[in-house]
Amino acid sequence: MSNTVLITGATGLVGKALAKKCLQNGFNVHYLTTRKSKIKLQENYKGFYWNPQLEIIDISCFEGVNIIINLAGSSIAQRWTKAYKSLILSSRKKALELLHLSIETHDFPVKHIISASAIGIYPDSKTRYYEEDFQGTDISFLRTVVRSWEGALKAFNALGVKTTALRIGIVLDKHEGALPKISGPIKGYIGSALGSGDQWQSWIHIDDLVRMFMFVLDSSLEGIFNAVAPNPVQQKDFVKSVANVLKRPIFFPKVPEFILNFALGEMSAIALESQRVSAQKIQDLGFEYDFHELDAALRDLL
Ligand SMILES: NC(=O)c1ccc[n+]([C@@H]2O[C@H](COP(=O)([O-])OP(=O)(O)OC[C@H]3O[C@@H](n4cnc5c(N)ncnc54)[C@H](OP(=O)(O)O)[C@@H]3O)[C@@H](O)[C@H]2O)c1
Repeated sequence: MSNTVLITGATGLVGKALAKKCLQNGFNVHYLTTRKSKIKLQENYKGFYWNPQLEIIDISCFEGVNIIINLAGSSIAQRWTKAYKSLILSSRKKALELLHLSIETHDFPVKHIISASAIGIYPDSKTRYYEEDFQGTDISFLRTVVRSWEGALKAFNALGVKTTALRIGIVLDKHEGALPKISGPIKGYIGSALGSGDQWQSWIHIDDLVRMFMFVLDSSLEGIFNAVAPNPVQQKDFVKSVANVLKRPIFFPKVPEFILNFALGEMSAIALESQRVSAQKIQDLGFEYDFHELDAALRDLL
């Protein structure tokens, strides 16, 4: 088997770390980007242009590729206007559909596609503990997006391609994503919990997430797996832990839900929804986390 992996969304938070790890582990990396300025043409790291909305793809990206890692999707952390909501969904669905069409049309010998998915597939609940076999019928926006994303992934099975979905939780990284947004105000003495603070947050350290992708890739593991650390925490405790690690007091009371709804609109769901998600399935298959507890992850990152 060739050792070239094709990554979509490789210029993002997860993609950058994952591409680096693939290179360290001896893979050549081909990546698809929607931004021509991000194309690099190095010996073992080559960029190719695509635009899934317009069904444009440079199919030379498939040369020597047996494995695809799909991370593409427009950010959910931007105001959810009607048009932007449509892009959140279509950027994910059309990316997978274009890869599917390319493989089908040219009969490329891809064996395995590993795709990002999200714990947003699980309905907001303070009491449930979600395992991968949970079947929901909730039709809220995030649930609809993730179900349709996973549906587009499943379609690869008909081409004889193995599929794996990693339902990713809140990714903790030093420079990008949720953590700097939470730690910034706390560093500036203006941090506080959001809403009731009781909502569960299922997080994962970026290094563990990258190792999990490599674990799935190396073992050709198929199926759906939650990509969260084994110990989710409630939002108020998340904020407390960050404050402890940064040695800052929390002066301010919790920000009431209605203020977040007013300031962020429907997108406040990202901060207010509660998903307590199990990491058991992938652990039972031998995956070992470096960061089980939030405090250890925060001490490493902050
Ligand atoms: N970070 C998290 O906490 C988290 C949690 C759950 C799930 N996820 C999912 O995991 C994936 C990777 O997350 P991330 O944090 O690395 O995301 P990210 O930093 O926003 O990067 C996503 C990448 O997707 C590509 N992209 C953006 N808009 C696109 C479009 N319209 N069509 C095709 N590609 C587009 C971009 O690459 P180019 O500009 O190079 O095209 C971008 O770098 C995402 O799909 C995300 O939804 C992330």
